[in-house]
Amino acid sequence: MALRIAVLVSGTGSLLQALLDAEADHTLNATVVVVGADNDAAQGLGRAEQAGVPTFVHPFVKGGDRAAWDAEFTRQVAAHDVDLVVLAGFMKLVGPAFLGRFGGRTINTHPALLPSFPGMHGPRDALAHGVKITGTTVFEVDAGVDTGRILAQEAVPVLPDDSVESLHERIKVAERALLVRTVNELAHQGDS
Ligand code: GAR
Repeated sequence: MALRIAVLVSGTGSLLQALLDAEADHTLNATVVVVGADNDAAQGLGRAEQAGVPTFVHPFVKGGDRAAWDAEFTRQVAAHDVDLVVLAGFMKLVGPAFLGRFGGRTINTHPALLPSFPGMHGPRDALAHGVKITGTTVFEVDAGVDTGRILAQEAVPVLPDDSVESLHERIKVAERALLVRTVNELAHQGDS
């Protein structure tokens, strides 16, 4: 079954691009039907537009009403009749309304081997801790911060002269492939 997926982004959108490229190459058993962002500077929006995918932006204003933001974000995604939501560098926590609607079918990708180094700075924290192996995790989103059921992981070595940037970029190469593979596995499970 080709899944209808929504992809949520906050920044560069290279994970989104990996999904769009795989879809264009017919190696993704899914269709990206909408891309949502929490800020209008997210470069992922341009990538979606280039691929002809509808987009929406719903910014969270600092100090604003979180429940209202959550409800509207949920409504915008739900309008596209999606089977799966992929958080791809989405830097906001989804709220209770979102999880009420899409819990169990929302996945996220993280640049570390969870449960190690959760949060916003996985590569920086791994480097600071001095680990020799880190990696990437795709997991099911729950109400916690990077606490949901782990679906897939891949290890990435830390090299002696790594900076946060060089390490994160090497992780992202593994992360893009792992995300495509995991979406395909979920589509395959939907078939059985
Ligand atoms: C990815 O490494 C993703 O795992 C990370 O942001 C990057 C987004 O890259 N997400 C988190 O750290 C979430 N806690 P991209 O914008 O190039 O797709």
